Amino acid sequence: MQKNIKSFEKYKKEYERSIKHPEDFWEGKARNFSWRKRWRNVLSWDFTKPEIKWFEGGKLNITENCLDRHLEKKGNQTAIKWIANDPQEKNINLSYKDLYTQVCKCANVLRKNGVKKGDRICLYMPMVPELAIAVLACARIGAVHSVVFAGFSAKSLSDRINDATCKLLITADGGFRGDKTTPLKEISDEAMKSTPSIERCIVLKRTKSNINMQKNRDFWWHEQMENSNSDCPIEIMDSEDPLFILYTSGSTGKPKGIQHSTAGYMIYTEYSFRNVFQYEDGDIYWCTADIGWITGHSYIVYGPLLAGATTVMFEGTPSYPDAGRFWKIIEENQINIFYTAPTAIRALEAKGMEFVTPYDLSSLKVLGTVGEPINEDAWHWYNKEIGKDNCPIVDTWWQTETGGIMISNLANVTPAKPSFATLPLPGIQPCLVNEKGNELEGNSVEGRLCIKFPWPSIARTIYGDHKRFKETYFSAFHNKYFTGDGCLRDENGMYRITGRVDDVLIVSGHNLGTAEIESAMDEHPNVCETAIVGFPHPIKGNGVYAYVICHNEVANNDLLKKEINDFVAKEVGPIAKADKIQFVNGLPKTRSGKIMRRILRKIAEGNTENIGDTSTLLDPSVVEDIKRSAQ
Ligand code: WTA
Repeated sequence: MQKNIKSFEKYKKEYERSIKHPEDFWEGKARNFSWRKRWRNVLSWDFTKPEIKWFEGGKLNITENCLDRHLEKKGNQTAIKWIANDPQEKNINLSYKDLYTQVCKCANVLRKNGVKKGDRICLYMPMVPELAIAVLACARIGAVHSVVFAGFSAKSLSDRINDATCKLLITADGGFRGDKTTPLKEISDEAMKSTPSIERCIVLKRTKSNINMQKNRDFWWHEQMENSNSDCPIEIMDSEDPLFILYTSGSTGKPKGIQHSTAGYMIYTEYSFRNVFQYEDGDIYWCTADIGWITGHSYIVYGPLLAGATTVMFEGTPSYPDAGRFWKIIEENQINIFYTAPTAIRALEAKGMEFVTPYDLSSLKVLGTVGEPINEDAWHWYNKEIGKDNCPIVDTWWQTETGGIMISNLANVTPAKPSFATLPLPGIQPCLVNEKGNELEGNSVEGRLCIKFPWPSIARTIYGDHKRFKETYFSAFHNKYFTGDGCLRDENGMYRITGRVDDVLIVSGHNLGTAEIESAMDEHPNVCETAIVGFPHPIKGNGVYAYVICHNEVANNDLLKKEINDFVAKEVGPIAKADKIQFVNGLPKTRSGKIMRRILRKIAEGNTENIGDTSTLLDPSVVEDIKRSAQ
C-alpha cells in the first residue's frame, strides 16, 4: 500500500509535481495495483473532441484489485459491515473472503444467465449487501452496471433501462427504509411493461412481500446463488473499457447516462479515498450515501474496497426509529470516519441535542460532507456537537461526472475553512472563468468553475450521446471541462462552491433537472405550462418552487397541488415533489420566448422588491401579477 500525504508541506510538493509531471505522477499511483498487462501510454487527451484515455494498453480487472489482491493479508478482515434498517435485525459482517466468494458466485449467476462483457445490467435494489455484491459481480465479468436509485419511479426506471438497453434487471421484492417499504418488484413489473431489451429479472428476497414472478423471465436470487460455483475467473478488461453508467439530471428532461472507465476510475477513487479521509489500516469508515448515487459507487464500494478498508453500509434513514440513529450506530460500531450530507446534518441538528448526548462519539476521528454547499451554521454544529471540536471536517466537492473528490481539504493535513471545499487534490487543475470564457487569474475572484486538465476518473462520455457530452461539458469554454457550478477563490486561494449556474437544482443533495420536473407536471391534464426554480430551504438546502399555469379555472387549489405532485412522484420519483406550488396566469418571458428564471427565483425567495430589469420582457405586467399572487 502506498503512504498517504501526511503534511501540508508534502501536499504542496505532491500537488506541484502532479501539475508539472502529471503522467509520471499518475503512473506512480498506478503501480500500486494488480495489472494483467502493463499500459503502453499513460495519457492521451483532446478536450475539443472530447477524447480522454488513461493507461491505454493496460489490462486489468477492478474486482481483482478490490478483492483478490487483499485475500492473503486481509482475508478475514471485515470488508463490508452492513447495518439493517430495523435496529433489532442483526448486522452482517462480510470479510474480504466472504465478499470474494459471494461476488464470484453472483458473477457466475450472471454468466449463466447469458450476460457477457459489455452488456448493460440494471440494478434497482435496496441498500443491502447484495447490491454491492451485484455491482462487483458485473465488474468481474466486464458487464456495465447501471444502478438506479431505489426511490425512482417505474417511469424513471424504464427510461434508464431503455436508454442503456439493459439486458438484465436485478431487483428485490421490496426495500425497507424507515417505517416504509418500497415495492421494488411491483415498480419493476410496471417498468418492464415497456423495456423490450430486458430478457431476465433476478429478484432478491428482502421484505418477503407477496409479488408476481413471471415464468421464464423472473428468477429468485437465492435459488440462482445456491448452486453457483464460487470460483469465477475475471474478465480481462482494457483500461478504457466502460465500468459503469450512472444517470444524472441535466438541463433537458432526459437524464444523462454518465459513463466511467475502468483503470482511471480505479486509480483515482482509491487515491482520493485514502488521502482525503486519511484512512489508516483498521479504521472503520462509514459513508451514509446510497449506492444509487455516485458517492455510494466511489466511496462506499470502490474506493474503500480498493484501499482494503472496512466500509459500513446502512440500509435505513437518519431518523428511524428516531433522530439518534446515526449517533447510535457510530457508538455501537466504533466508527472512526463518518461521511454524510449537509441535509442530514441540518435535519438532525433541528431535532435537538437530546438525540445526540446519549451517545459516546469518541471513536470519531474524521468527519466529511458531500453533495451540496454546507452553510456555516451546520458546519459549526457538526464540528462542535459531533466532532467535539476534535475532528477535521472534509468538505468534499465533486460530481457524478468527476468520478471522485476533486476539491477538498485532507483531514488533519491541509487547512479547513467552514463552507469552503478549500484546495484541489493533487492532479486537479481548477480554474475560474468569466462569462466570456476568460480565465480569472489571481485570488479573490468569482466565476464559473472549470477544470483545465484531465484527471484519471473524468467521465468518458454520455452513454449513446457523445454529442451531448461535448455540448454539456466541453463547449461552454474552450479546452476546459465546465462543471456547471459557480465558485469563488478567496484571498488565500481556497475554493468555495456557490451553487449551480445551470438548470440543475440540488435538493437535499440530489440533482434534479428543472426540465424533468416541468415535463412531469405538464402531464397533468389541467396543467398548461410550468416553470420550476429553487428557493432557499432550511433543511434541504434548496426547495422546489413551481409556477403553474392551468387550462381551466382551479376549483380546489390543495387538491390540484396534490395531484400535480402525484404526477411528479409517478414520473420522476417522490424526491422531486414541489415544496411550493403557485398558480399563475402567465410566466415572465422574453420576446424570444425564454422564461426569465432570475425573476421567478427572486419571487420564490420572497424578494419582491428588487426584481431587477424587466424591460426585455414581452409583457412586464405578468411580473406584478405573480408578485401579487405570491403574497
Ligand atoms: C454539488 C455528488 C458544494 C455541486 C458528489 C455539484 C457540492 C453537484 C459539493 C454534483 C460540496 C457536491 N460543496 N456543492 N462539497 N459536493 N456539490 O453529481 O453543485 O450528485 O456540481 O455528485 O453537487 O452532484 P452529484
